[in-house]
Amino acid sequence: MQLKVLALPGDGIGTEVTAEGLRVLRHVAAKYGHELVLTEGLLGGIAIHKTGTPYPAETEKLALEADATVMGAFGLPEFDNAPPDKRPEKGLLGIRKTLGVYANLRPVRAYEALLDSSPLKNHLLAGVDMIIVRELTGGLYYGTPRGITGEGEEERGTNTMTYTRGEIKRITRMAFNLAGKRKKKVTSVDKSNVLETSQLWRKVVVEVAPEFPAVKLEHMLVDNCAMQLVLKPAQFDIVLMENMFGDILSDEGSVIAGSIGMLPSASIGAQRASGAWVGLYEPVHGSAPDIAGQGIANPLGAIGSIAAMLEYSFGLVEEAAAVNAAMEAVLNAGVTTRDLKGNATTEQVGKAVCEAIG
Ligand code: NAD
Ligand code: IPM
Ligand code: MN
Repeated sequence: MQLKVLALPGDGIGTEVTAEGLRVLRHVAAKYGHELVLTEGLLGGIAIHKTGTPYPAETEKLALEADATVMGAFGLPEFDNAPPDKRPEKGLLGIRKTLGVYANLRPVRAYEALLDSSPLKNHLLAGVDMIIVRELTGGLYYGTPRGITGEGEEERGTNTMTYTRGEIKRITRMAFNLAGKRKKKVTSVDKSNVLETSQLWRKVVVEVAPEFPAVKLEHMLVDNCAMQLVLKPAQFDIVLMENMFGDILSDEGSVIAGSIGMLPSASIGAQRASGAWVGLYEPVHGSAPDIAGQGIANPLGAIGSIAAMLEYSFGLVEEAAAVNAAMEAVLNAGVTTRDLKGNATTEQVGKAVCEAIG
């Protein structure tokens, strides 16, 4: 089939890991006889440098035309004090909103070969296999009013956490649908002991749950969830939460996998008539300025995101499984980057995955 893919490598290690993701994608396309039509675009800090804005209109157009978009990471230290609209991260928030990808799926697995890479004790990690389902286009990230007003002691920063019933319903259905195909358990995370948004969240989740009688629902307060994730991570299957909670807890979850460089993500929204999802695929990590340019970033989060794209946006389940199996084989063979205590380069890991695919 034809795979029309837009790549937005972005900043820092984003370019390095995306190069390996695309190496694997080209390899899979060649092996399985798919025609890859690949376009590259600008988003983030590099887009500010080249066009003056983090989310150029041309990029928006390319994303709307593509079947799927793969991304690297966005953010550069030189913009740390820039106003929100002139920050690389704004590009990321913009494209998520344009594509309406409200469901961010972040699988967290403990790979057998990586048990010793995690600071957690091995016996806690055995069998850990969860998906953090993070609402991605609402909540604090987009709510208004927002901004900084006033001056002196009265200078005030404002953000607004807001959710509608419709927004909560659709992400809840996504979570329950996924759970139905897995261990049949949804843990909905909120702060309903304090926040009205969370009270509505819990109410709507409870209303939707009976549509999925085979799936067990439990609720957990977000502070407790932060603890349970490292105390007893094997208890989770689908962990459903709003945008900001999901951002924070997914980085915590990466400790289970051994490195933030291991975590892939799929951000999906509407489903096309063919069943394929409109999707954005990106690793969970950022641009890692501390290691950028050294060729040592772990590309497996980016490569895992390619596998997710093959599955969700193209329905290529066999190809996706081949990529995932190859990643596991490479881990078992000990070809890993420094974050996993190995000494392979980013490129060596990408090439090893291609070889393992065969
Ligand atoms: P980060 O994820 O970039 O880095 C945190 C730590 O993890 C660093 O020590 C880094 O070296 C390490 N790390 C991250 N990815 C790695 C990989 N693939 N292999 C090995 N080690 C890896 O988070 P940060 O330092 O808080 O943020 C840096 C910049 O990235 C900021 O500008 C931030 O806004 C941005 N950011 C972007 C995204 C994104 O584009 N999706 C996500 C998170 C942060
Ligand atoms: C992520 C990142 C982004 C987010 C930032 C860079 C806007 O941390 O994808 O996890 O908070 O969503
Ligand atoms: Mn994050």
